[in-house]
Amino acid sequence: MQIGVVGSGSMGSGIAQVAAQSGHQVVVYDLSEEALVKAEKKLGKIVNRLIEKGRLSESEGADLLGRIRWVNDLQSFKECGFVIEAIVERLDIKQKLFQDLQAIVSEECLLATNTSSLSVAAIASSLELPTRAIGVHFFNPAPLMPLVEIIPAVQTASEVVNQTRALIDSWGKVTVLAKDTPGFIVNRVARPFYGEALRIYEEGFADFATIDWAMKEIGGFRMGPFELMDFIGNDVNYAVTESVFASFYYDPRYRPSFTQKRHSEAGWFGRKSSRGYYDYSEGAALPEPNKDKELGKQIVDRIVTMLINEAVDALYLNIASANDLDLAMTKGVNYPKGLLAWADEIGLEKTLQTLERLQFEYGEDRYRPSPLLRKLVREGKKIF
Ligand SMILES: NC(=O)c1ccc[n+]([C@@H]2O[C@H](COP(=O)([O-])OP(=O)(O)OC[C@H]3O[C@@H](n4cnc5c(N)ncnc54)[C@H](O)[C@@H]3O)[C@@H](O)[C@H]2O)c1
Repeated sequence: MQIGVVGSGSMGSGIAQVAAQSGHQVVVYDLSEEALVKAEKKLGKIVNRLIEKGRLSESEGADLLGRIRWVNDLQSFKECGFVIEAIVERLDIKQKLFQDLQAIVSEECLLATNTSSLSVAAIASSLELPTRAIGVHFFNPAPLMPLVEIIPAVQTASEVVNQTRALIDSWGKVTVLAKDTPGFIVNRVARPFYGEALRIYEEGFADFATIDWAMKEIGGFRMGPFELMDFIGNDVNYAVTESVFASFYYDPRYRPSFTQKRHSEAGWFGRKSSRGYYDYSEGAALPEPNKDKELGKQIVDRIVTMLINEAVDALYLNIASANDLDLAMTKGVNYPKGLLAWADEIGLEKTLQTLERLQFEYGEDRYRPSPLLRKLVREGKKIF
């Protein structure tokens, strides 16, 4: 099957590479000629590196590159059986693209969106056949991150879900099924990783370096929250938080932080601007954490408890199955354990007690335990 990719930015070019590596003929279109040229050159370099490392033979590399056509008109998508768009994150522009595409491709062609924050239903609604639209959410960098969230819109036909999942599975990805709700799985469930860490800092409980140290050394996470926000970019991470907060009708659980807003306003985006929560300029020394084990444990307990509550609530609201929720967090953001399995390990009663203590202390809805957590504790059950 021929695959079409619209947008040759970070995500589109990565997705094109994944599809071509799986043997598909791929067509990539971008509005910007410059973006197309840049993406083609970049992929050439990536393939050369794979050859140098012995991951691809010379001929496999040449075949891979030969399977991708970089085109400057959508008409070349005529023969595609599956098209995924990874263009700018704007509803009106994505809707217009879907409308243009439906006039070119066959009726059987599936139309997917890689949107991170828009409603798949709203994008699908622009089509005469909205049943063929679906969300297929890759993570950055697409060739390296195993997880793909599959998001049917309310209009999507069930066979479209099955076909899409089978196709993306055949690309060697781990697919999970998520409801069309803000942030899908990962960008929703991961909010407290950043939000609660920022809150702990704002309360003066611990500094950035200590919170990062605790989450890595005691929590087993690959990166601390502040390191990770500096890596993602505080501007980007803040914008996602603000969009999730608004999309949830201002649920206090997702309230953004002034600390992050100010860092972003100051231009302290993180690594890309040499300054974020940490100073990355040449010769700057990273601050030393306070390696107090007890303090570290309290930090990890609070952030992990909030993450677990978020995952349990996502299960309660049928955003995804328990298995898919855990797969998403381990394969999409490299968490050391699935949050629901972790909840069973810590004990649901203990998790509930921690949340009730926080809710009592702060009097904030932010800390309200999920009704499912209360129910499971009442019934003496576990999640798995
Ligand atoms: N960057 C990430 O980490 C990430 C992760 C998952 C999903 N996404 C989503 O993927 C999509 C693309 O993100 P990105 O980071 O690759 O963006 P990007 O800015 O790197 O690339 C977008 C590309 O789309 C092109 N474009 C814009 N409008 C177009 C149009 N109408 N027709 C054709 N091409 C057009 C631009 O020229 C650009 O090359 C967005 O919806 C984003 O939310 C991004």
